[in-house]
Amino acid sequence: MKPQVIRFTLNGEQREVSVYPNDLLLNVIRDREHLTGTKYGCGIGECGTCTVHIDGQPMLSCLVLAVSVEGREVVTIEGLARNGELDPIQEAFLDHSAVQCGYCTPGMIMMGRALLNENPRPTELEVREFLRGCLCRCTGYVSIVRAMLAAAEKETV
Ligand code: FES
Ligand code: FES
Repeated sequence: MKPQVIRFTLNGEQREVSVYPNDLLLNVIRDREHLTGTKYGCGIGECGTCTVHIDGQPMLSCLVLAVSVEGREVVTIEGLARNGELDPIQEAFLDHSAVQCGYCTPGMIMMGRALLNENPRPTELEVREFLRGCLCRCTGYVSIVRAMLAAAEKETV
């Protein structure tokens, strides 16, 4: 197998990285780009903690080959803040003590951001359904759902 150079946008910046055909996007983000906010959980698409946005869509980076993001726009949790301001979902997670141990938090927030982009005022059930692929192993979902609903309300007033 030979490496190849891919070019893509990562959190608004152009990147050029040499990757092997079987390199996973999650590993490139964490090990090559040193953006460790995106977490490795299960590695098999079942926990959601590795969620990033690719061209605005939430994707599990443990299931995405790095070569497939050639020419595309990737956003990780590190890219959500704008001009030094946290995303409203990040703020709401802090305000509602939804970070807990924090391991699932980046995936929850990236998935939550995708939900509010698509559905700015979800019901509690819709939040729970959208986040069903994101597993929190340490505490539970009550504060996370509360934070999501608060962020939705804040963004739409
Ligand atoms: S690490 Fe990707 S879904 Fe669990
Ligand atoms: S906050 Fe600990 S795994 Fe979810």
